Amino acid sequence: MSPPAEVRVSTLTGPGRERAIPLVRESFHGYYRWHAKRTLREVPLVRGAEKNGELLGVAMLDRLAPEAGYVFYLAVGAAHRRHGIGGVLLDDALAHFLSTGAEVVFAAAEADNAPSIALFRSRGFRLVERDEAGFREGGLGAWGLRSRMRLVRGEVLLGRRFDPTAPA
Ligand SMILES: CC(C)(COP(=O)(O)OP(=O)(O)OC[C@H]1O[C@@H](n2cnc3c(N)ncnc32)[C@H](O)[C@@H]1OP(=O)(O)O)[C@@H](O)C(=O)NCCC(=O)NCCS
Repeated sequence: MSPPAEVRVSTLTGPGRERAIPLVRESFHGYYRWHAKRTLREVPLVRGAEKNGELLGVAMLDRLAPEAGYVFYLAVGAAHRRHGIGGVLLDDALAHFLSTGAEVVFAAAEADNAPSIALFRSRGFRLVERDEAGFREGGLGAWGLRSRMRLVRGEVLLGRRFDPTAPA
């Protein structure tokens, strides 16, 4: 479903990021909830999707290398899912990474998180194989970066390469 036209995405800073805590609480459990809250406060860039002053979703974005962006967490309020908000946030993140020189973007998801994997696939991400060539060699392997992504057991790595021949 396409998102309501009035949805606006902007950068959340300082106390503005605390507004996303309820979204994080209802979106993650256990270790992920703890880590997502910490990431919300520490990650370089947080983008929030709002409608009429209500925060509907949030994206936490990091940079692993000059050529590699990382979507740390994406969360949409339970009452607002399947309305295109996650897609808007991911499109916004991709536009940001592309405009700041990234060639590839990575994201991790629990192997059984169907909504998350479907969302990333809908924007051109694919699963990264364990043994594939590194992203600097034309593959999507993220050698040396996996520890910074905090990949844990049961998660899969997804990646997408921007097409350098596509029009801006
Ligand atoms: C994953 C999440 C962010 C998706 O947000 P959303 O706003 O519901 O996503 P959208 O409505 O923009 O969906 C975009 C596309 O993703 C896919 N998708 C999203 N949710 C899906 C679901 N439950 N089942 C199947 N596909 C799904 C679809 O392809 C969808 O396109 P469509 O609606 O045209 O079919 C949301 O479910 C969420 O916050 N989950 C809890 C937190 C989480 O697991 N985050 C991801 C890991 S960091």
